[in-house]
Amino acid sequence: MEKFVIEGKQKLEGEVKISGSKNAALPIIAASIMGEGKTILHNIPNLKDVQTILKILNYMGVKTKFENNVLEIDPSGIYQFTAPYEFVSTMRGSICLLGPLLAKYKTAKFSMPGGCVIGPRPIDLHLKGLKKLGVKIENEEGYIVGKVEDKLKGNIVFLGGNFGSSVLATANVMCAATLAEGETIIEFAACEPEIVDLANFLKKMGAKIYGEGSHLIRIEGVKKLKGTEYTIIPDRIEAGTYILAGYITKSRIKISGVITHHLLSLFDKIEESGLEINFGDTYVETIPKEKWKAIEITTLPYPGFPTDLQAQIMSFLTLADGVSLITEKVFPERFIHVGELNRLGADITLDGSKAIIKGVSSLKGAKVMASDLRASAALVLAALAAEGTTEISRIYHLDRGYEKFEKKLSDLGAKIKRVKEET
Ligand code: EPZ
Repeated sequence: MEKFVIEGKQKLEGEVKISGSKNAALPIIAASIMGEGKTILHNIPNLKDVQTILKILNYMGVKTKFENNVLEIDPSGIYQFTAPYEFVSTMRGSICLLGPLLAKYKTAKFSMPGGCVIGPRPIDLHLKGLKKLGVKIENEEGYIVGKVEDKLKGNIVFLGGNFGSSVLATANVMCAATLAEGETIIEFAACEPEIVDLANFLKKMGAKIYGEGSHLIRIEGVKKLKGTEYTIIPDRIEAGTYILAGYITKSRIKISGVITHHLLSLFDKIEESGLEINFGDTYVETIPKEKWKAIEITTLPYPGFPTDLQAQIMSFLTLADGVSLITEKVFPERFIHVGELNRLGADITLDGSKAIIKGVSSLKGAKVMASDLRASAALVLAALAAEGTTEISRIYHLDRGYEKFEKKLSDLGAKIKRVKEET
């Protein structure tokens, strides 16, 4: 295994280019198997999660070629429709294959994804929506077996859950509806930019979709979808992570290749903490200050503050003036980073789905352990600001969602090395 060794208190400078969005890439790669013929996708980030979904597709017989962020997918050779536990357990996002498999191939056998460190990852909304379109679902020894006896039929699907909307349940139902007979209405759909990107991709394949980006999406089923060529959106969560790296190290840096209107909730919180931010349509510049104010944040579905930036902004708030409060409304248990941040000298206490963060004057380097993608990014941010050396072990968690992380940070002047862990 490998670890990061980071020398903190190093000012950053220069510019970092944002990669393609992991959370747009996964559902779009999944949807591409519905096309008659080859699809070519551009701006696909070279991440472990992308490699994982490609392994599942190759296992099913789909031919793929991935180099220089261009991915070619040829689904013509697909011959089996099972996603085994060893793949699904490493990446819950692979559930986004369920809708496309059922829509195009009328069958899917999927290992139940199980929980993970950010909390239980139920799929009841996925199954409820797909059943509404006519999918028969059985549960066989921890596997979901889905079958379409005749053909999928359009329907009205209410997709809201106790946590509001579900991103990948929306993706699955929207994909399935594109090839269903008749019209489907999805009420309480997720509004995330990644859902809009998926809808744009599906429309290029020939789907008829209206209202994406709102809570009500209307889909008119078509007989076939064709392979196409498409460029995915940049990663708003990677961008937010670098923006917070600029502020926590009190550095002026430029983050480019961003769709800035995807980050307005983050900009709002940065300004609320008394800091300034400069941005155009596709770039952001951090304008640092020595100190910033404590604030309150509640994570919500888009366009609310994203749960995927909760750990990273918590690192930033460990050094604020005053006591901050973060309420996690999307994944109420998503606080695995708190213990490790406290090892770095932070002063955070938990009360159910709320984290109380008392600002401290400085963090001190220590040995910590990565445990989840965004929690690990939070540890990197804290290490960049801490006095002394921090070692972060099990950084394979970071490789799931951050392309060339240590290279991008080193190019900004950070003192970060990837080294083999002593066994
Ligand atoms: C997507 O996961 C993202 N993953 C997550 O990013 C992100 O945190 C999440 O959306 C929320 O924005 C990908 O896009 C690959 P949800 P998803 O269904 O779709 C509950 C990262 O770090 N729920 O929107 O699985 C669920 O438990 C990852 O990049 C049900 O109750 O999340 C949660 O509380 C982590 N039943 C809430 O809804 C269901 O059937 C939102 O989850 C489905 C979800």
